[in-house]
Amino acid sequence: MTDLPAADRPEPGPPAVGPPAAGQPDPGLAAAELTETGLTEALTEAEMIANEVTVLVLNGPNLGRLGSREPEIYGRATLADVAAACAATGEQLGLAVDVRQTDDEAELVGWVHQAADERLPVVLNPAAFTHYSYALHDALAMRTAPLVEVHLSNPATRETFRHTSVVASVADGTVAGFGLHSYELALRAVAALLAQPPPAAAR
Ligand code: DQA
Repeated sequence: MTDLPAADRPEPGPPAVGPPAAGQPDPGLAAAELTETGLTEALTEAEMIANEVTVLVLNGPNLGRLGSREPEIYGRATLADVAAACAATGEQLGLAVDVRQTDDEAELVGWVHQAADERLPVVLNPAAFTHYSYALHDALAMRTAPLVEVHLSNPATRETFRHTSVVASVADGTVAGFGLHSYELALRAVAALLAQPPPAAAR
């Protein structure tokens, strides 16, 4: 802000907060009300951000190659497209999303441990680990928040080895066969699960 020359400075007026002139609305009160409303809104927004639940959207092996990997099965959407769709759906639902991918079973198990420790809901595409990783099953069995299994394709319509999921029995549910939309539906399922009252024993 530039300083005005002394001659151009406005005369100091009456204090902003003071008794109103007779018959006039109290400008001080209006300002205080406005400020209070603004503060309330700001606090609510800050609280909402502070309370926003983060959903881990975890992806297993070979999903980093989406877009070019067997597009006739998995479609043309890349993992970046999946992440963008998840972020957009998360925003609609008031959920923050953290999308990760690894080809490494130990790293994926580590993320599942983190989710359990921090009570974070998980949307999980375990990819090929779905069908045989007991380590992943055991890690997920320790979960402390909603878990939705997700698949782009519908494994039930594919090779026999894909008909078994060692994850399904420890998940709240599975969404499969809707391509990119499987993730959006899974996030909606997480939001619905979070909105449910906790079971009586946990209250
Ligand atoms: C997949 C299905 C799995 O059978 C496969 O191993 C994958 C992807 C899916 O999203 O359709 O890698 O999880």
